[in-house]
Amino acid sequence: MAAALPICLLDGAFVPTQDARVSPFDRGFLFGDGVYEVIPCFNAKPFRLAAHLDRLQAGLDALQIANPHSRAQWTRLVHELIAANGGGDMGLYLEITRGAGSGRDFLPPPKLKPTVFGFCWPLAPARGADLERGISGATLDDIRWLRCDIKSVALLAPVLLRMESQRRGADEAILVRDGRLAEGSSSAVFIAKAGCIVSPPASHERLPSITRLVVVEALAALGLPLHEREVDRAELDDADEIWIASSTRDVMPVVQLDGRAVGSGKPGPLWRRAYDEVQAIKQRETR
Ligand code: PDD
Repeated sequence: MAAALPICLLDGAFVPTQDARVSPFDRGFLFGDGVYEVIPCFNAKPFRLAAHLDRLQAGLDALQIANPHSRAQWTRLVHELIAANGGGDMGLYLEITRGAGSGRDFLPPPKLKPTVFGFCWPLAPARGADLERGISGATLDDIRWLRCDIKSVALLAPVLLRMESQRRGADEAILVRDGRLAEGSSSAVFIAKAGCIVSPPASHERLPSITRLVVVEALAALGLPLHEREVDRAELDDADEIWIASSTRDVMPVVQLDGRAVGSGKPGPLWRRAYDEVQAIKQRETR
């Protein structure tokens, strides 16, 4: 990931990123007691901002943290943060923690003031060569907790999974729980077999991915039916195509799984159609 851009958002103020400081007693630091969002921005416009703010609200509700800002305030803050960093294409991170206490108590003290942090980094779209090449995946056991639908800042499991997938020479960990496809360590997953596209449905075992919904819309626009159902391990191994989808990586073809070619070993034709349609949607909404 590229380095953070120079201006960040801390508790309502725009400050130089290098000067931003948070208390070590912040519950985000001590307990991972917070939620976050990653919003892709193109041409200085946050893509699908409403969906990201909805998911942020759902996460805050799950943690019983009062949202420190109204929808209008969030919208203004996001646009101001983008502008303060010069606009263009960027990833935008927002984190809200329960705030800093005066010590370390599992039970949160009442009336803490949530900490709000936001920063941006340049987001380079995948180039032609990357798209031609595709990416690789390694299947790993899903060692995460049972509320993966919450976009929690407690990300130790995905960090370890990503380190292990890198050790195996793969670009993403494809997680399997109880013999079924869960999701990527930081992405949603689609598979295609004999022209049939399948993606596992929403559940507590997966994050409700916003990019996944964009892909679902793209498939509908193309008239390509999507089957939303569980995918077992054997289907994953036997797929003609595997795609991952996320705010930072778009929809990318996985051409190798556990060192073996997926289908032809090249980005597949269904992925290409879905990818092009997703670009058209992004273009329409942000140009
Ligand atoms: N992660 N599943 C998991 C576990 C994720 O962490 C992510 C995204 C996704 C895709 O969600 P979306 O399409 O809304 O980005 C699915 C972000 C990019 C991150 O943590 O950096």
